[in-house]
Amino acid sequence: MSDRYVLAIDQGTTSTRCILFDRKATVVSVVRGEHPQSYPKPGWVEHDAARIWRDVQRLIGRALREGGVVMNQVAAIGIANQRETVVLWDRDSGQPVAPAISWQDVRTEELVARVDSTLVRDKTGLTPATYFSATKIQWLLEKHGLRERASRGEVLFGTMDSWLIWNLTGGSHLTDVTNASRTMLMDLATLDWDLSLLSAFDIPREMLPSIRSSAEIYGHFEGVPIAAAIGDQQAALFGQTCFDPGEAKCTYGTGGFLLMNTGTTPVRSSHGLITTVGYRIGDEPVVYALEGSIATAGSLVQWFRDGLELISTASEIETLAATVSDNGGCYIVPAFSGLFAPHWRSEARGVIVGLTSYITKAHLARAVLEATAWQTRDVVDAMNADSGLALTALSVDGGMTADNLLMQFVADFLGVPVVRPMVAETVSLGAAYAAGLAVGYWSDLRDLRANRHRAGRWVPALDSPKRAAEHANWRRAVECAVFFSR
Ligand code: G3P
Repeated sequence: MSDRYVLAIDQGTTSTRCILFDRKATVVSVVRGEHPQSYPKPGWVEHDAARIWRDVQRLIGRALREGGVVMNQVAAIGIANQRETVVLWDRDSGQPVAPAISWQDVRTEELVARVDSTLVRDKTGLTPATYFSATKIQWLLEKHGLRERASRGEVLFGTMDSWLIWNLTGGSHLTDVTNASRTMLMDLATLDWDLSLLSAFDIPREMLPSIRSSAEIYGHFEGVPIAAAIGDQQAALFGQTCFDPGEAKCTYGTGGFLLMNTGTTPVRSSHGLITTVGYRIGDEPVVYALEGSIATAGSLVQWFRDGLELISTASEIETLAATVSDNGGCYIVPAFSGLFAPHWRSEARGVIVGLTSYITKAHLARAVLEATAWQTRDVVDAMNADSGLALTALSVDGGMTADNLLMQFVADFLGVPVVRPMVAETVSLGAAYAAGLAVGYWSDLRDLRANRHRAGRWVPALDSPKRAAEHANWRRAVECAVFFSR
């Protein structure tokens, strides 16, 4: 019998990746395609969902070709996706009815201000913010006059997982429980759409997908089961095999996302984290997570490259930052989409503070990397306070972990070791694992754990007084971002 593989589609914020894995979780082929980000107004971020679907089809073909694999050797396909981003499409034509609104977009600030925070928090475990899907759906229905058609089920809503499943399966309208938990519309206890929230946001039930587990067969694409859908950050938690309560990881992509497995009971945060669904494998009990979301991490480096044009490739930031020994007193708070955890200030805007004529682009590069590390520290402090446990090491993954200087800053600012696994593509791996479990390609969680190998480790090298002084400066800079709100 010829070898079999699992194909993961990681539909992320700035790019889509398709990766083929074998049974030992070795990457057989990996292909990647970037899609444009559209910024029509300050704070607005849009995607072209039709273009993303075309990319996915093209990338699936390329991943197979480059792996020397044919479709009938693929045991299952798993999808991981950027969460919260809203796609509305016409049920009959299958075409998007408007540009997709990205999770980073802050245009719905005024709608969020009207939300009943207690209702949202109690039902969904989320802190109301422009980040989540509900107000984006509400905005699109209003601005494009689509509510009537949506209530007849002629216009459908989905996050990127739904949009891709709809296209891959030829018309199944569904989502998984992790993605649904990010909409501000799902009751965390019943795992179903909540009628009081639907009515508060004036969103018709008829336009919503049905909610399924993260690992089961939803349909087929060219004869291959589509067997998993899972929000990308939850996929990374699963890919890092954080299966036990207390295990956590932080993924650095466009944003940064620290998730801790809290077991089968949702834990409510009192320090600015959100409660979310970690994963659900078939009929097994749902596993919850606490999440600290950082809106701007890799996208700050992207802005440094494309907006300021101070470097020409993202990896140059490390070399540039390493030409100076410190930040020269300069701090950047990248509140491009407001501030997420633990502050939740949608109205905050980014600031650069501490400028003197001594500051060069190298100091700015350093401040860019330090911003990601300090934001991680803020989230870890909240996680420690909520869980009553002190994190002893942080598992990391995602594209930015290739930046050794950044990883050293994270270890320095947290004061604990930082550990990177062999397969840095843990988002894709998590989707592959979930799909593989659903079709029996892997038999159980132990099977998956056996594939875990460590590749990098950074230990703290900053003394405590220096860390405390720098942290105090960072906090003052954050206050400036909140003060300088729109
Ligand atoms: O919640 C947003 C998140 O899912 C985006 O992930 O990897 O594209 O930054 P990423």
